[in-house]
Amino acid sequence: GFDYIWIGLAAYVMGSIPFGLVLTRLFGGGDIRDIGSGNIGATNVLRTGKRSVAALTLILDAGKGAVAVLLAKHFADGNVAALAGLIAIIGHCFPVWIRFKGGKGVATYLAVMSALDIRFGLIFAVLWLGTAFIARYSSLAALVATMGATIGAFVLDSDSMDNAHLIPVFMIVMTGLIWTRHHANIGRLLSGQETKIGQNGKTKK
Ligand code: G3P
Repeated sequence: GFDYIWIGLAAYVMGSIPFGLVLTRLFGGGDIRDIGSGNIGATNVLRTGKRSVAALTLILDAGKGAVAVLLAKHFADGNVAALAGLIAIIGHCFPVWIRFKGGKGVATYLAVMSALDIRFGLIFAVLWLGTAFIARYSSLAALVATMGATIGAFVLDSDSMDNAHLIPVFMIVMTGLIWTRHHANIGRLLSGQETKIGQNGKTKK
C-alpha cells in the first residue's frame, strides 16, 4: 500500500542522483557528458584522469543502490527489495533532473546485487574483475558480470530473506536494462572501436 509508494519513490530519487556529473563538475573536471563516452559513470570519470573522483563516483553510485535495497528489506521483503533495486537502477539510467539522460547502471547494479544476496555480488565482482583484467573493457566486463550474476541467481536459491522468490525474475529485467544501456558499447566492441579502461577518450563518442 502506502509504504510501497514511498519505498519506490525513495529508490528512484536516490538512484537518480548523478554523482559522476556532480563530482566531476565540483572537482573542476567540467561536464562529464562532453568527455569520452559521454556517460556519467565512474568508467568515464576515470577518463578525466581524476582517479579519486572516479572512485568516489563508483562508491556513491553503488551506495545509493545498496541503501534502496536495504531500506526495502527493512520495511518489506525480498521481492520488494529486488523491485526497489530495479527502481534505483532505473533512477540512475533515467534521472528526471537531467532530462532522463542518465548512466548505464553498472555500479548501482553491483550494490543492489550485494545487498540482495552477497553471493550474487561476489559472482558479479569476480566476473567483472576477471574480464576487465583480461580484456580491459569496462563495458564487456559489465555485460559478462550481469549475465553471470543472473545465471547465478537461478542456480542458487536466495534464502536470506522472506518472500524472495522473484529475485531472479527481477534480475533478468535489471540485466536486460543494463544490456540495452550498453547498445552503443556493444556496437563499438563488435567493431573494435571500444575504449579500454584508463585510455583517455578525447572525443565524445
Ligand atoms: O559502467 C559503464 C561501463 O560499462 C561503460 O562505460 O563510459 O565506457 O560507456 P563507458
